[in-house]
Amino acid sequence: MLSTLRPAATRAALRQQVVSAQVVRSAAASTWANVKEGPPDAILGITEAFKKDSFGEKINLGVGAYRDDKGKPYVLPSVRTAEQKVVSSTLDKEYAGITGVPSFTKAAALLAYGPSSKPIAEDRVAITQSISGTGALRIGGAFLERFYPGAKTIYIPTPSWANHKAVFSDSGLEVKQYKYYNKDTIGLDFDGMISDLKNFPDGSMVLLHACAHNPTGIDPTEEQWQQIATVMKEKNHYPFFDMAYQGFASGDTDKDAYAVRYFIEQGFGLVLAQSFAKNMGLYGERVGAFSIVCDSAEEKKRVDSQIKILVRPLYSNPPIHGARIASEILNDKSLNKQWLGEVKGMADRIIEMRALLKKNLEELGSKHNWDHITNQIGMFAYTGLKPEQMDVLAKEHSVYATKDGRISVAGITSDNVKRLAESIYKVTG
Ligand SMILES: Cc1ncc(COP(=O)(O)O)c(C=O)c1O
Repeated sequence: MLSTLRPAATRAALRQQVVSAQVVRSAAASTWANVKEGPPDAILGITEAFKKDSFGEKINLGVGAYRDDKGKPYVLPSVRTAEQKVVSSTLDKEYAGITGVPSFTKAAALLAYGPSSKPIAEDRVAITQSISGTGALRIGGAFLERFYPGAKTIYIPTPSWANHKAVFSDSGLEVKQYKYYNKDTIGLDFDGMISDLKNFPDGSMVLLHACAHNPTGIDPTEEQWQQIATVMKEKNHYPFFDMAYQGFASGDTDKDAYAVRYFIEQGFGLVLAQSFAKNMGLYGERVGAFSIVCDSAEEKKRVDSQIKILVRPLYSNPPIHGARIASEILNDKSLNKQWLGEVKGMADRIIEMRALLKKNLEELGSKHNWDHITNQIGMFAYTGLKPEQMDVLAKEHSVYATKDGRISVAGITSDNVKRLAESIYKVTG
């Protein structure tokens, strides 16, 4: 008995020695020794380079945030008033429910789907507050990964917002792309998009930018949206709308919601990510919503319960301050009217800067056609400039933007537009 036990004891002692040696060895190397440094965020890199530049007339067209005509961040007066109302009402700071501030989500759904929306009237829209648009996309990605009955692949446009791929693949979805941009026309590759949609397997998930496509600023026309809907219906594809710029594109929140509302009229079920970062200038407050248009009120109840189960371990429940501000603006009639005017003001300034940039380039005698600058819509213009040209713009003219030739029109002002046009002209001719 003893002899059989001895080898086992020896083995255990030997094992103990190996473990101790490992502990000693790993004490020398850090736990994170194998973590490789990742590439910096493209936009943050631009901001860094911009900050380092000592030239007094440098221009930053990298950031996707609105600036006023003096180039300064803009807090909407309606937001200031709403915030004062929230603060002076001395509400408590208790947790919101898992799906957020109900007066906000109810109003957010009405803003997106419209006051005469059938799914809202039939109580079949499941909605949750989210950590702005990114959080809404992430909840959507996670929900689809968990419950979508078809293939777990989502198709996004080429190009798309730089974060879409990471958000969806981190949610566990496979990400593939469809044609969207035609570099020869600097416009929409409509035929390419339609043929891709026709070729994808039936029942595919397709991400659509509802308006103000980022980064190209190129949106389908209403007729093109109708054709997209027809093909998607034939193919039984499932739409995921990302609406990060409602009101910010045309200046009219109803007009910018055309695609979403048209798809619903056509009987689609869909999911929608909303952001209030741009249209209310609530960037850092992280106010957004994620909703699912269901088939029935009974289905909505089931879906809603699963959204809660999904959100609870993610962040438990969302922050309340920004949602309360947005709720004031959306629910108070006169504040709402004021806000709609301010959104239009921002959109109009962007439209005006597009026209001024084009006019200046033409007056300089540029041999290129710059119609795309004014045909595009929203915060970004896709100039068609190549990465090497963008490098020269930064290095020789202190004009900073992403290498893909995208410029944030919100960073253009009456004061810098002439110098910007001259710089682009020097680079492109
Ligand atoms: C197309 C698109 N979707 C979503 C977002 C998300 O923005 P946020 O999380 O700040 O609301 C952005 C922001 O730039 C965007 O351009």
